[in-house]
Amino acid sequence: MEIKQQLQEVLQEINTAFQTIDTINELNDLKAKYLGKKGCFSQWMTEMKNLSNEEKPKFGQAVNAAKDEVIKHFEDFYSQIEKRIIAEKLAKETIDVSLPGRVFPVGAKHLVSQVIEEVEDLFIGLGYTVKEGPEIEQDLYNFEMLNLPKSHPARDMQDSFYITEELLLRTHTSPVQIRTLLENSGNKPIKIICPGKVYRRDDDDQTHSHQFMQIEALVVDHEATLADLKGTLLILARKMFGEERQIRLRPSYFPFTEPSVEVDISCYKCHGKGCSMCKGSGWIEILGGGMVNNAILEATGYDPKQYQGFAFGVGVERLAILRYGIDDIRAFYINDLRFNQQFK
Ligand code: PHE
Repeated sequence: MEIKQQLQEVLQEINTAFQTIDTINELNDLKAKYLGKKGCFSQWMTEMKNLSNEEKPKFGQAVNAAKDEVIKHFEDFYSQIEKRIIAEKLAKETIDVSLPGRVFPVGAKHLVSQVIEEVEDLFIGLGYTVKEGPEIEQDLYNFEMLNLPKSHPARDMQDSFYITEELLLRTHTSPVQIRTLLENSGNKPIKIICPGKVYRRDDDDQTHSHQFMQIEALVVDHEATLADLKGTLLILARKMFGEERQIRLRPSYFPFTEPSVEVDISCYKCHGKGCSMCKGSGWIEILGGGMVNNAILEATGYDPKQYQGFAFGVGVERLAILRYGIDDIRAFYINDLRFNQQFK
């Protein structure tokens, strides 16, 4: 039989066999069957020795040409199978991008922290530095040097948690005033705010908490007047409660400031007409402050003829309660996520 004809038959066989093949391994087997040692091509080559010397080269060339064709055929099969395998893989591994992703719960800053940071930002912008002091404080700084000697009746206003005779949980952030004045050895201007926890021996109820937050401010300079205090408070009031707020100072008393003031803002609900929020007065009290008492400047080494100062202390929860209409101070501390998440 002519090699060409045999090749046609072989190709036919291979093509039919290929139809049933799914994997590279099966294709390798098929290839070995035809092109391997026991395949028809090696067989034809061994038959060649029976031919005459004239016929040998012609026959050899014909077999090699046929073999090349079969090899090309297999190359084609390989790429077909590879394509098929990749297509199957892609179909199987398709990602459904329309599937909704998993939602991870994300926490948020506590409202108290938010308000503190907002006030800090404001005052940093005004050139203040943020300072902290210890929550366990000496009686000396919490009371004594703030002009509240042991017998002073104003101590009763701030029922305290004493640890020893001389140590207590600070009842306000004002002791940081004393610490800062002492640190600056009587000859440096001061401009600080101090946020932090304070403690009072109150029974917790809707309007009382035995622990809450205050922010203290202290400015001491050659000229730091009551007008400066008023201007500073107006900026704070407008930042927290709206640009159209007015403030009002009323005379008050703190042993560490003289004169002392109680500060009101114009009611942001009725705009001064009088409503339930401001109890008909048109004004809402927000904080206490005043001019640093000369006795305190002297006791900490500042010469009142050279220096003057103002200070105020504001309750953080009170700011938040007013701004967001929160009706129970305990909401800040019972960690109910439903409360916390409202202020994300
Ligand atoms: N420490 C005072 C209080 O807790 C507030 C205050 C601070 C008043 C600074 C005057 C100056 O009530």
